[in-house]
Amino acid sequence: MRAAQINKYGSKEVVEIDKNATKPALSAGHAIIEARAAGVNPVDWKIREGYLQQMMPLKFPATLGGDFSGVVADIGAGVSGFKKGDEVYGLASVLAGGSGSFADYISADAALIAHKPKNASHTEAAALPLAGISAWDVLVNKMELSKGQKILIHGGAGGIGSIAIQLAKHAGAYVATTVSADDRQYVTGLGADEVIDYKSESFEGLLHGYDAVFDTVGGEVYKKSFSVLKKGGIIVSMLEQPDEELTKKYGVRAMAEATGYAINTHNLSALAALVDRGVIKVHVDRVFLLEHAAEALAHQQSGHPRGKIVLEVKR
Ligand SMILES: NC(=O)c1ccc[n+]([C@@H]2O[C@H](COP(=O)([O-])OP(=O)(O)OC[C@H]3O[C@@H](n4cnc5c(N)ncnc54)[C@H](OP(=O)(O)O)[C@@H]3O)[C@@H](O)[C@H]2O)c1
Repeated sequence: MRAAQINKYGSKEVVEIDKNATKPALSAGHAIIEARAAGVNPVDWKIREGYLQQMMPLKFPATLGGDFSGVVADIGAGVSGFKKGDEVYGLASVLAGGSGSFADYISADAALIAHKPKNASHTEAAALPLAGISAWDVLVNKMELSKGQKILIHGGAGGIGSIAIQLAKHAGAYVATTVSADDRQYVTGLGADEVIDYKSESFEGLLHGYDAVFDTVGGEVYKKSFSVLKKGGIIVSMLEQPDEELTKKYGVRAMAEATGYAINTHNLSALAALVDRGVIKVHVDRVFLLEHAAEALAHQQSGHPRGKIVLEVKR
């Protein structure tokens, strides 16, 4: 089978397409999936570059990728709720006990898969797991966002931000978002009430008294966001640990999101139900063939995608 793999950490050049990769073996608690599509996330190029090697060193050759959508080919001992032929989506990253999703066949922990949304194609479903669960876990579980509240969503045109805008509007919140000027129309179409061009405007001078800030950018953007919140407000970051000094200074709550812990069959099923009800639509910016995984990762890293990048594995 084919697999997009690395044998060392590095930039685009280290990604190799092995056309004779070993098909993953079936193990207890896991399912073998014939992949149809694999979603690309920033973490995939961060893993390629070795950003996570201290915390979780890879065993080479390592197949890249986590998000996928496909068809169950085999079921390991102890797995219930799925059968051969089921269309499923989920996470199969090697850091999450899977075999990597950028391949023809995938082994995934059955606790990290769910039936794919019926109203989404495999390409759309593969774009959802990490970004969709991130947005859902933060807005629903951590912020408990409700009608009439005001939220600032940073990076509204990104994979996570674009789903967060739709979920926040569904909750009845007022949504401000930061994007590049080119993405203004895109996020307005998703429902954003107020759009701020992060390159030419300063959100911290424009927004005050907000209930919540969802930070998908980090760094200075995270620090400056505290002043947007009202007392008792909440900031959740995809990249930063809570800043205790700023939390105290502004009298707010701060949390860090770790989506890996929120991906499970129950949450993926809830996300699929939202897609089937038309609450969330995933915008696929560009589709690459599996053979072009290196280019797809480079585009995710520096191509400023609007929404998601997906690898087509099998038509
Ligand atoms: N903690 C976790 O468990 C976890 C899980 C998933 C993701 N993450 C992290 O969360 C981050 C976002 O993920 P994603 O999938 O949404 O990435 P993405 O699809 O690449 O989107 C990032 C967005 O941020 C925008 N942006 C960049 N600089 C900005 C700024 N200064 N102000 C406002 N927007 C800005 C980008 O716009 P332009 O392209 O126009 O610059 C882009 O639309 C990544 O760093 C990812 O690694 C963490």
